[in-house]
Amino acid sequence: MLLNAADPAAIAAAAQRLADGSLVGMPTETVYGLAADADNATAVHRIFEAKGRPSDHPLIVHLAPGAGEHGWRTGVDHYAREVPAFAAALMQAFWPGPLTLILPRRADVAAVAAGGQDSVGLRCPSHPVAQALLSAAAALGVSGVAAPSANRFGRVSPTTAAHVAEEFAALGEADLLIIDGGACRVGIESTIVDCTRAHPVLLRPGMVTVAQLDAACGQPVRERDGAAPRASGTLESHYAPRAKVRLMDAKQLRAAFQLLGKDARHIAVYARSSFETARGVPRRRMPDEAAPAAQELFAVLRELDATGVNLIWVETPPESSDWDGVRDRLQRAAA
Ligand code: TXA
Ligand code: MG
Repeated sequence: MLLNAADPAAIAAAAQRLADGSLVGMPTETVYGLAADADNATAVHRIFEAKGRPSDHPLIVHLAPGAGEHGWRTGVDHYAREVPAFAAALMQAFWPGPLTLILPRRADVAAVAAGGQDSVGLRCPSHPVAQALLSAAAALGVSGVAAPSANRFGRVSPTTAAHVAEEFAALGEADLLIIDGGACRVGIESTIVDCTRAHPVLLRPGMVTVAQLDAACGQPVRERDGAAPRASGTLESHYAPRAKVRLMDAKQLRAAFQLLGKDARHIAVYARSSFETARGVPRRRMPDEAAPAAQELFAVLRELDATGVNLIWVETPPESSDWDGVRDRLQRAAA
């Protein structure tokens, strides 16, 4: 069942669903999440089951903004055993917003959501509908909402309510309520920083860039290494449409389409550069800036996939760090 977020009854109904242990499709500024009460083990199991996600892959717990300047602190203190100074600085700088922090977990909370890790991923989203829903659920006793991206495991993340409905068409109205909060503004998942060790470590790049993180926490955020916790968004192959994705530079693309001529009809293309292709080749122009490219990325992959092509050829994004998140998702889609 799909409800419009503008309908005041929708938020109340969704919050009640969360309090009752059911699943809700929740808009956030990054992507849509498949939400359930993080402290309800049965409800969290429903997420893993619906996604087809292995239950040892931890979920992000979303916190209500609360009242006052650091209102999310109530939620943080419910789940986190300790908050290092650099993590507090990151919250201060980027919450509410598209940044997830992995923190040491209190032993008695959200064990199933944490997938057995002794840490917990926390994020306070900035999307007004997510905030309204989290606040209404908090008033019903839900301290935090576990929500992975609302796609089946390994597939492209959803950035509209229609995408969520498509992903979980098999679930009935009683099993899933989807709140339509429009298209997501950021478009790719949150940046994830591990804060369980002495230094911050980047686990997943996103639209909050490393340079911004470094500046906010006063020390360099390190690259992930062998000791970093596992994260499904960091699996090599992820975010994959049905068609095969291949990254190519502008020169390769131009040469390949020249060579193929009319035989290119089973190929779709997403590129910033212009070049000739045969008529009928599905084509979308990639924006020149990272932010609009991220915003539309997953919807474009879905749209090109839906044309029935076998291959989606994508122009390699620029090397600059503002493109790190987009480049990461495309490399995984292509792996
Ligand atoms: O933007 C986002 O982060 C979206 C929206 C819905 O908030 N959520 C999202 O969730 O992308 P998901 O489950 O698709 O990706 C969460 C990532 C996974 O790679 C997971 O392994 C990692 O966060 N993660 C969560 N808790 C963790 C923990 N305790 N330790 C290590 N990694 C963790
Ligand atoms: Mg995901």
